[in-house]
Amino acid sequence: MEIKKLFIENAPVDSVSEIQPGIHLLKVYSPSIAKNSRPGQFCNIKVSETKFPLLRRPFSICNVDGDFIYFMFNVYGEGTKLLSIKKKNETIDVLGPLGNGFDLDGNYKQAIIVAGGLGSAPFAYVTKSFINKNVISFIGGRSKKDVITYGLLNIKSVTEDGSLGMKGNVIDLLKNNISEIDIDNSRIFACGPNAMLRALKSFAMENSIECYASTECAMACGFGICQGCPIENADTDGYKLVCKDGPVFNVKDVVI
Ligand SMILES: Cc1cc2nc3c(=O)[nH]c(=O)nc-3n(C[C@H](O)[C@H](O)[C@H](O)COP(=O)(O)OP(=O)(O)OC[C@H]3O[C@@H](n4cnc5c(N)ncnc54)[C@H](O)[C@@H]3O)c2cc1C
Ligand code: FES
Repeated sequence: MEIKKLFIENAPVDSVSEIQPGIHLLKVYSPSIAKNSRPGQFCNIKVSETKFPLLRRPFSICNVDGDFIYFMFNVYGEGTKLLSIKKKNETIDVLGPLGNGFDLDGNYKQAIIVAGGLGSAPFAYVTKSFINKNVISFIGGRSKKDVITYGLLNIKSVTEDGSLGMKGNVIDLLKNNISEIDIDNSRIFACGPNAMLRALKSFAMENSIECYASTECAMACGFGICQGCPIENADTDGYKLVCKDGPVFNVKDVVI
């Protein structure tokens, strides 16, 4: 049995930058988590030193560079608002690395990244961790400002309003580029809204492409204690926990 190392680091902020309108990149010094993380894992961040907000907030590890880790977010509520105004050398309490992460090993030749909106967050780290894979990134958003391409390679974009790339959604984009997909030698790595992941699951199963998706749900503890993050098994009764068994699942194994 693999015993996972888990750390709580009081991580000094190096910078918070706006990499495109509304999209923030938080860089913190967190050597233990940086050294022990793998692409697709996440951290549970206590965004303030006070009791409010009480619960930690989960964020994908967006990138790792030496002893620094990066998180990508936009401002939804109180937690992300507080993160967006952190100053250099303020510390934040980061718990991680959590979850299973993506399995990048295997005999496939083509890595297909599929992301919608902030679903791009884990893929800078994933992209730089591939060894000898031909990578294509299919990236979608409602409009141009929601298409996030930080750290990605060989990008094809799609927007619902047609303001960037093809007009439509990422599934339309995949179907439109099906001739570029090496069906027998590819693996899909995905993250995005549940509606996108559901449609992607159908696409992948119809075309017999192996597909792994990073799923999201509300979380509390982040490491399997509170049972607050169930995801239903596809073929058997019962459920798995997104924080401990996921957040990455083979799409055929779970109900999205
Ligand atoms: C494993 C995992 C990884 C995640 N990685 C990232 C990441 O890399 N970057 C990121 O920005 N977020 C990520 N999230 C979502 C993130 O945890 C929430 O965005 C965060 O909790 C928001 O905190 P808040 O206090 O700002 O908003 P809250 O006060 O928690 O929520 C404010 C309002 O926004 C809504 N809301 C919250 N999150 C989302 C969301 N993701 N999409 C749409 N509406 C939402 C809530 O329902 C609520 O109405 C991840 C979640 C999980 C489970
Ligand atoms: S968040 Fe507590 S078990 Fe998953």
